[in-house]
Amino acid sequence: MTRFARISGTGSCLPSLKLTNADMVDRLAAHGVDTSDEWIVERTGIRARHFVADGVYASDLAAHACRQALDAAGVAAGEIDLIIVATSTPDMVFPSTASILQRKLGITGCPAFDVQAVCSGFIYALTVADAMIRAGSARKTLVVGSEVFSRLLDFNDRTTCVLFGDGSGAVVLEASETPGILATDIHADGRHTGILCVPGHVSGGQILGDPLLKMDGQAVFKLAVGVLEDTARAVLAKAGKTEVDIDWLIPHQANIRIMSSTARKLKLPMDKVVVTVDQHGNTSAASIPLALDHAVRQGQVQKGDTVLLEGVGGGFTWGSVLLDF
Ligand code: UT7
Repeated sequence: MTRFARISGTGSCLPSLKLTNADMVDRLAAHGVDTSDEWIVERTGIRARHFVADGVYASDLAAHACRQALDAAGVAAGEIDLIIVATSTPDMVFPSTASILQRKLGITGCPAFDVQAVCSGFIYALTVADAMIRAGSARKTLVVGSEVFSRLLDFNDRTTCVLFGDGSGAVVLEASETPGILATDIHADGRHTGILCVPGHVSGGQILGDPLLKMDGQAVFKLAVGVLEDTARAVLAKAGKTEVDIDWLIPHQANIRIMSSTARKLKLPMDKVVVTVDQHGNTSAASIPLALDHAVRQGQVQKGDTVLLEGVGGGFTWGSVLLDF
């Protein structure tokens, strides 16, 4: 009997502090930096983002998202036999945010580890969990994207600090006799590490190098639109499907112009694309599961729908997952 991996519940968490573009204009003005609601909306589609309070970590947001996903799936935390957290903003250098999350969920014993693929992290994590379930190494898993990118932002750099936000999304992914995940496709090209990075590191008790986010936005934009089309076509081909089979496209929420371009190339109308970038900004590895949970709770994505998830980001990394919800 073929064994598949299927999402049985979704959950998410956004910090309560919501900053509109007008709030960002004020915040940047305090740094002597000029921006505007018009520029941010026109170039990115972003209208608001959420930032965590001091003392709140990626694992806190993840724990909340996981409890919601477990409730939705009707699964008790103690039944979980694998936890994977995708994050580039871990609570600590080590242990993993997944281990800290495991403790916060009151679970012991199951494997728990982080995946670091920046904005493609959730796609990578889902791919690993799918493979482990199909191999028989796990049955009931939590796959999470959780980020506190506000901690990496340089508020003197208007080209990046208006783009990102904090949040978490989670799914319960379970072994199933029916699909489920139909195909996965992940890639990296390490020649492009420099176009999106946080180059600092910890050494001898000090941070060496710059610990704030750097991005060559135009270079990322150009690469993103190309690879997102390629990976969409690759994952559809692996599953023996075509664009017409897609009920919902849930792309990484970075820029509405990149999302529209992907939709256009796949001949999908925008009403088949889940858009949350306007309210969440770019939450990196959290953006896809956040958007998925939002779409499920809004009644957009329904049981049986075929959904294409797509991520792209630092590394350079990219990939997609095609699934029947
Ligand atoms: O999550 C990983 C994936 N990340 C992405 O997908 C991000 C991809 N890149 C992008 O989304 C876009 O490249 C950005 C939104 C980052 C930038 O948009 P753009 O259309 O590529 O703008 P640009 O960098 O070419 O800048 C155009 C102008 C510049 O002014 P000049 O040199 O033409 O006078 C910038 O200084 O816009 C200016 N600008 C701003 N103006 C007001 C840049 N940031 C701002 C700002 N407010 N916040």
